[in-house]
Amino acid sequence: MLTLLQTAASPFARKVRMVAIERGVPLALEEAKVDPADRNTALGAFNPLAKIPVLLTSKGAIYDSRVICRYIDAKGEGPGLYAGPDPWGILRLEALADGIMDAAVVARYELAIRPGDLVWQDWVAAQFARIEAALDGLEAGTEDLRTLHMGTIGLAAALEYLDFRHPKLRWREWRPGLAKWLEREVATNRMQSTKYPAF
Ligand code: BEZ
Repeated sequence: MLTLLQTAASPFARKVRMVAIERGVPLALEEAKVDPADRNTALGAFNPLAKIPVLLTSKGAIYDSRVICRYIDAKGEGPGLYAGPDPWGILRLEALADGIMDAAVVARYELAIRPGDLVWQDWVAAQFARIEAALDGLEAGTEDLRTLHMGTIGLAAALEYLDFRHPKLRWREWRPGLAKWLEREVATNRMQSTKYPAF
């Protein structure tokens, strides 16, 4: 059995759990303590960067989330989530979704963990500007969101993370197409059974 060291609030971990569901690969979940200002030495025994998610396999630990997704995908049957007529498009959307997550998590840490008088507002604004630009491109149709693949799974996890941690962004306001797309995604089993925690 594969064990995922994770935290339920991480969009990167959620993406991995969604892939496991789609590919029919069972995962045991183990909640890890995550504090950006305090390296988790127990986690560091598996990943020197001490970052989640980490996948424990019979042959050792695997990280980061992109590598874990590929690993789990390869365990499933059939063509998998990286197969399609435009494989580079799938990888590009996966990278874009990860970039949205990265910027959103950085902004979250800055706003939620830093002492208020030390928050670097320009830094936060720069993260939000990246996210807004990515969403504008997606709304304009830069990527093909019609089929299920690694890119669309990552994007769904990223967009719901914005709702979870940055509701003030109100990203849907100017992006009805993307909002409708996510509405359909949210109804799927892979999203319903991997929801972010209610805090
Ligand atoms: C969060 O609480 O938003 C979070 C936790 C771990 C990794 C990424 C995000």
